[in-house]
Amino acid sequence: MALLTIDEEKCKRDGFCVRECPFMLINQTDSESVPFTNPGSEKVCINCGHCVAVCPHGALSHEKMKMEACPSIKKELIVGIDQVEQLFRTRRSIRLFKDQVIPQKDLEKLIDLAHYAPTAHNDQDVQWLVISGFDNVKKFSSLAVDSMRDTIKNNPGSTLSMSLGRVVGAWDMGIDVVTRNAPHLIITHAEYETSPVSEFYPTDCATALSYVELAAPVMGIGTCWNGMFSSNVPKWKPLQDALGIPETNRCYGALTAGYPKVKYYRMPLRNAPRVIWNQG
Ligand SMILES: Cc1cc2nc3c(=O)[nH]c(=O)nc-3n(C[C@H](O)[C@H](O)[C@H](O)COP(=O)(O)O)c2cc1C
Repeated sequence: MALLTIDEEKCKRDGFCVRECPFMLINQTDSESVPFTNPGSEKVCINCGHCVAVCPHGALSHEKMKMEACPSIKKELIVGIDQVEQLFRTRRSIRLFKDQVIPQKDLEKLIDLAHYAPTAHNDQDVQWLVISGFDNVKKFSSLAVDSMRDTIKNNPGSTLSMSLGRVVGAWDMGIDVVTRNAPHLIITHAEYETSPVSEFYPTDCATALSYVELAAPVMGIGTCWNGMFSSNVPKWKPLQDALGIPETNRCYGALTAGYPKVKYYRMPLRNAPRVIWNQG
């Protein structure tokens, strides 16, 4: 089957698809002719769907993405920059959670939204692990604390051990400052060293979690990045094994999630961005 199917009646020969293809796989002989791809282009195509998305006439289908299957953009749903600014500035790291789990369908919605995040080479390599249930999450925190105990034992007196000592001390007093009594832990992981672009998998996983983090408050859900947890995964085999992440994969990020117990009334300030504007 050809990579692209172009409806000759609908095609206006405007060449948008030709200019849009990131790998220059679409050709057009002249401004009167219908674009085409050469045999073998399916081996190079990254299936990004830009050719389908950019055609104003609905003339083009991709073998992996029929035009009819790609929804039209609804102009009435386009958000303004003021809404975006408020969304970004009111997103908070949530560390106090209600005693309530998130319905499965809402977790699925968040992951569904996040799987539209960009990935290097459009590899769509991000894999998910969602741990649910207060006691279940705590079981994994406990393993992260074991890892911290091990670090302290092997590096006594280091700055890291001193800060980990506070976390472990709190844990021993019944205070969970690792996953903060959250009902869910959302983890992204990906294979490593399996693809020419696997160096970007940590970025892809973090980007996907950022999408979750930004979409969550719109659904009344709060999240918090959990470096304290994820940094212990590669260090502690019992934690890795309990998570069940395949041997071929690495954990590249974790978010706790639940319903916030707190409400915010103001947007805190941040340092000014440090930017070099190089204008030639
Ligand atoms: C990669 C990363 C790791 C983080 N790890 C933790 C963590 O282990 N525990 C925690 O309470 N907060 C963690 N945070 C949250 C930051 O402390 C928080 O983003 C920062 O204080 C700013 O607050 P805000 O997110 O509400 O703007 C982490 C954030 C990022 C981006």
